[in-house]
Amino acid sequence: YVAELDPSDLGKGAYPYYMIKEIDEQPAVLRRLIQTYQDQNGQFVVDDNLKAALQNSDRLYIVACGTSYHAGWVGKNLFEKQINIPTEIHLASEFAYNPPLMSEKPFFIFLSQSGETADSRQALVLVNQLGHPSLTITNVKGSTLSREATYTLLLHAGPEIAVASTKAYTAQITVMAILAAAVGQTQQHGLDLAHELSIAATNMETILAEKDQIKAWVDENLLETPNAFYIGRFLDYYVSMEAALKLKEISYIQTEAFASGELKHGTIALIEEGTPVIAIISQAKVDKHTRGNLEEVKARGAKTCVIATQDFAQPGDQFVLPKTHALLTPLVIAVMVQLIAYYTSLGKGLDVDKPRNLAKSVTVE
Ligand code: G6P
Repeated sequence: YVAELDPSDLGKGAYPYYMIKEIDEQPAVLRRLIQTYQDQNGQFVVDDNLKAALQNSDRLYIVACGTSYHAGWVGKNLFEKQINIPTEIHLASEFAYNPPLMSEKPFFIFLSQSGETADSRQALVLVNQLGHPSLTITNVKGSTLSREATYTLLLHAGPEIAVASTKAYTAQITVMAILAAAVGQTQQHGLDLAHELSIAATNMETILAEKDQIKAWVDENLLETPNAFYIGRFLDYYVSMEAALKLKEISYIQTEAFASGELKHGTIALIEEGTPVIAIISQAKVDKHTRGNLEEVKARGAKTCVIATQDFAQPGDQFVLPKTHALLTPLVIAVMVQLIAYYTSLGKGLDVDKPRNLAKSVTVE
């Protein structure tokens, strides 16, 4: 069963938790974004002034917190590869007090599901004082960050109620891909984004149809462990950061993400008999290296698991995900790792939607 998206829907219907409803809504959100941002000719379009502001800029600065910050890393790659603008990514809580050196023509992108996060607001106050143009990408129309930035793009994801963010992450990545396409129409390296996003939506559904298999693996491997690791390289590392945050925030298992090449420079000392290490493998050139790193932890007793896309899968891999365009694999891997986190929290009998010590929107610095 795959959820329909009703943007005004505040109930959880037959679902036990909002989080699983919101995970299920992701293919519908993706399709809605494709429709919303396309013109009659099937071209992705954004406001002309926004487009000109980006084209004019010599450097993009993405500013965000938490899950939105992790989406920013995926966005950085999209902007650099699709429109050739160097892109920096900053934690809002660091930015306001220690702003980076700025280029001559900076353009700021604030990523925020709620549009109310105090750390991000503080950074935007500074950007406005300096007189630089900015864009807020948010799920909440009329939110503070949206009102105070020069431009806004909406996530159209419908209300996100579970504290652990899911559909906002994939919607943020999708909107950044659309923005890059709209800004750089002449520079698209033959990428038919609408087509590739539709494939990603269908691939998300394939994963959603395999919940039982994911739950069974979680029940057997994650419910008793005090710690766990996600590893990957490049985009697989970026999505690992979000995977680790998801798992730790709702299951309380201490989970860290590592760029797999860094393991040998210290982290491998933490591997003990039975430590779960989950590798994400979806990118050419780095796939073999990540497999090598996985062998190193296996030799030291780790209980390993591979999540690979079809094009990089090998016999024995625990989860094989359908092939997705290389720039967009975080969209489908996100669904997989969200489900791992969800079933771990559920299996431990925790309150999935309201993890301890956390708030949906943090309005203090
Ligand atoms: C809180 C939430 C996180 C979220 C972060 C940023 O800490 O618990 O899930 O990623 O704020 O929120 P924002 O609304 O700015 O994306």
